[in-house]
Amino acid sequence: MAGKGNKHGFVIAIDGPAGSGKSTTARLCARRLGFFYLDTGAMYRAVTLKVLRSGVRLDDERALRQLLRSTRLELCWDDGGLRVFLDGEDVSREIRSPEVNRLVSAVSALGVVRKMMVAEQRRLARGRNVVCEGRDIGSVVFPDAQLKIFLECAIAERVRRRRAELKEQGLDKGMSDSEVRRNLLQRDRIDSSRDLSPLRRMPDAVLIDTTHLTIEEEVAVVCALAQRRIQGEQ
Ligand code: DC
Repeated sequence: MAGKGNKHGFVIAIDGPAGSGKSTTARLCARRLGFFYLDTGAMYRAVTLKVLRSGVRLDDERALRQLLRSTRLELCWDDGGLRVFLDGEDVSREIRSPEVNRLVSAVSALGVVRKMMVAEQRRLARGRNVVCEGRDIGSVVFPDAQLKIFLECAIAERVRRRRAELKEQGLDKGMSDSEVRRNLLQRDRIDSSRDLSPLRRMPDAVLIDTTHLTIEEEVAVVCALAQRRIQGEQ
């Protein structure tokens, strides 16, 4: 990537572990600022669903590459929020299922997957003002982002949020707190320790601990930081 952020657009990169508040904060900030919102986790989830359905093995790089080449991913917006389409099918709900939760870190640790996803993310964001959230946004996808945020949150609060989210989607059946906790910690471990683009805080990222913040407070902090940087650029 040459130049600032995203070929003329203003880029807000939000990274952090699962359940730290990235998606909600990014979505609401994008709406308030009139920016495009890019949920890169949703893209890795959709690809994971495709892998699950196809039965292709994770160590079969050739088959995986072929599978990805024949995959069509679309992210759309409607009143209900983000809709994710996989080869034309609306999979918005299915990509949040426990099966996908269990496999997504392993799929997103693969080089062949990351390479294609990063290229697609840059393409989707090109020329736009964008709030982009994930694990490697400030480090790899948009290392020149004008504003980088790293969100942190205590594990107990992350479990509470993830459970509420699953419940809202009707996907919490039979899941105990300890199962949700185990899944979050396992994903943290894989996402932070993988060789390729591990989750890490960049030195130029603003650290925000969201444990005791309401969503409104999180959004207010990020938007205020963005406004200040945008004014500084003008
Ligand atoms: O943000 P999320 O929980 O929807 O992300 C799902 C998984 O996707 C996460 O466990 C790691 C992976 N991911 C990634 O490797 N890089 C990103 N930029 C976003 C997500």
